[in-house]
Amino acid sequence: MKKILTIFIITILIPYSALKAQETNRFFPEKDLVTTGIYYYPEHWNENQWERDIKKISDMGFEFVHLAEFAWFKMEPEEGKFDFIWLDKVVGLCTKYHLKVLLCTPSATTPTWMRLNYPETFVMDGHYIRAENGTRGLESMVNPKYRGYVKKIVAEMAKRYGQNSNVMGWQIDNEPGAVSDYSPSSQEAFRTWLKNKYKTIDALNFAWGAAFWSQWFSRFDEVIIPNTNLVGWWGNNPHALLDFKRYSADAQAQFLDYQAGILRDYITKNQFITTNYTAVCTGSDPNRTTKLDFAAYTAYPNGGSDNIGELGFRLGNSDVVLFASEYYKSVGGVSGVMEIQPGPVNWGSYNPLLLPCTVRLWLYHSFAAGGKIACSYRFRQILYGAEQYHAGMIQTDGVTPSQGGKDYMQFMKEITELRKKFTPGTKMPAKLAARSTALLWNVENYWSIDRQRQTGQWNTWDYPVKFLKIAKSLGAPVDVIQEKADLSKYKVVIVPAYELVDSALVKKWNEYVKKGGHLIITCRTATKDRRGHFWEGETALPIANLIGAHISQTDMLSSYGKGDILMNSNHYSWHSWADLLVPDNASEVLATYDNQFYKGKAAVINHRVGKGFVTYIGVDTDDSKLEKDLLRQIYKDAGATTEEYPPGVFVYWRDGFYTALNYSSADYTVNLPDAAKILIGEKVLKPADVLVWTE
Ligand code: GAL
Repeated sequence: MKKILTIFIITILIPYSALKAQETNRFFPEKDLVTTGIYYYPEHWNENQWERDIKKISDMGFEFVHLAEFAWFKMEPEEGKFDFIWLDKVVGLCTKYHLKVLLCTPSATTPTWMRLNYPETFVMDGHYIRAENGTRGLESMVNPKYRGYVKKIVAEMAKRYGQNSNVMGWQIDNEPGAVSDYSPSSQEAFRTWLKNKYKTIDALNFAWGAAFWSQWFSRFDEVIIPNTNLVGWWGNNPHALLDFKRYSADAQAQFLDYQAGILRDYITKNQFITTNYTAVCTGSDPNRTTKLDFAAYTAYPNGGSDNIGELGFRLGNSDVVLFASEYYKSVGGVSGVMEIQPGPVNWGSYNPLLLPCTVRLWLYHSFAAGGKIACSYRFRQILYGAEQYHAGMIQTDGVTPSQGGKDYMQFMKEITELRKKFTPGTKMPAKLAARSTALLWNVENYWSIDRQRQTGQWNTWDYPVKFLKIAKSLGAPVDVIQEKADLSKYKVVIVPAYELVDSALVKKWNEYVKKGGHLIITCRTATKDRRGHFWEGETALPIANLIGAHISQTDMLSSYGKGDILMNSNHYSWHSWADLLVPDNASEVLATYDNQFYKGKAAVINHRVGKGFVTYIGVDTDDSKLEKDLLRQIYKDAGATTEEYPPGVFVYWRDGFYTALNYSSADYTVNLPDAAKILIGEKVLKPADVLVWTE
């Protein structure tokens, strides 16, 4: 009883994410900072090269090897006949060369016998065409037969390696993306999901607005997966499609938990279970899983896009690691990169050489944001197959490190030095804690808004991310959090385009502000209930009292239109979204529209609630300047100082180390205090440079 009470007290005193982070310390001792690894596919290479390769991995400085992903054909060459001799050899070689092993369950690629004997285990697309084996992630996760085979192979692997002290953990599947599946198994599973959710068919009819265009159902067995491929854009039912997204994300999460459950029956407590979500993940919802120790991500920042300045096309897009490194911590308190792009890839719109040290820059980005593992896809560039143009750490001769390989070696050497400088228990500096910020995220808002963007100018993913970038450019530490998170530890909480709400959530926001928090709510928030229906009342009805204003109308402009806003004698331009606000008496108007027929109407409002403030930003400006000026002022009002980092320059703090990163095409001089001690790099950051220091 005493123990239960203690756990309970600890639980209410320490925020959820911090608790989870403490639990994961058993996998990742703090003093190690970050553990480095590499994907190796022995099944792609002649057995007589395995030892040479594993030794090379060790000599280069890697600490673990990622194995067995996609190797189902090799582990179960015939249905029910398992062969792990080859894997035993490779695991043994890893032990010999002091490398830990991270094993991956092979469920993302099934062997040929599965297609031949059980074609029904594959997904169907929106034209009811069945997929085949030959690439990743096309199996129907809800198909009972497929699940049965997954259970067998995962259990066999877990029995064999679950007690091996050299195996550090497990990755389940590959890039779980909640693929839309229209197969008969999925239709059945969707109906079951709906029955559980709605109980009666009329509840479903009302939630889906099925009276519109004769979509009404009499029984659950009449329901099919809403299919925009067949009814066209006009025929989309946003509520049904939102439910299909939810169902798909649930199915994905349950599939991961299903595999985690099988592993748990056999593995020791010291082996972790994770998966590798894509960095920009709009299909899956990692927070729907319950059995992962933490969530990792894959990051490919350079797919041939322009980015910042003339070198941007070589440096890649900084948003990728920026977002993923914070978002995935919301699952287990920690995260890390499972696949960092090793060099040019094969799938970009074009695939340029990276500026030397760019892979190191990305690795440091993930590290700076708290990453516990830094792993890359893949060790050797393959000589054949769909990814033969995809770089590896080692070139096609099998022995010479690529530029990415050299970057990695330098990073690993430097991390070894940083470990020596690590002091346990270092607290976040007060100047940073004073700006601590949270960005509230629920992928359901993405699903809902992206279906009905209303204007081609609206970018559903970029919009919330722009607030993350603004806060980082002002020097704030930012967590991307979920609704369940404790808001009280943040000075500022940003709620960007948070379309779907209920009264409990609005109450939570209200409480946070009353106690002294500063809440920033933006346009497109609280315009719908969780079903995706409008309120029978004014726009954003549930937050009207909280924001101290009413949204009378919303405007959007053509791409050649001109939207002008005035704030503190400064002008700002907008195109995509503009809420026209009618403030309550107690509210302060911070910005007004300065042209169009509604000139003078309020665009931004500040409202005092209890000890705190709510700022409602009704407009999405073209260059984010208005939002940045507002945020700077908000930090100032909260008694915090701010920085002014240019686009592409980021500064982080973790475990006592400051890290500055430069994704821009220009040199940047870091303004270091006198007390600063440089550990890695130089004060003048060239493009792709990194600086690490302590204060
Ligand atoms: C990732 C995937 C890897 C590999 C890589 C190529 O998305 O997880 O298996 O295909 O892309 O860039």
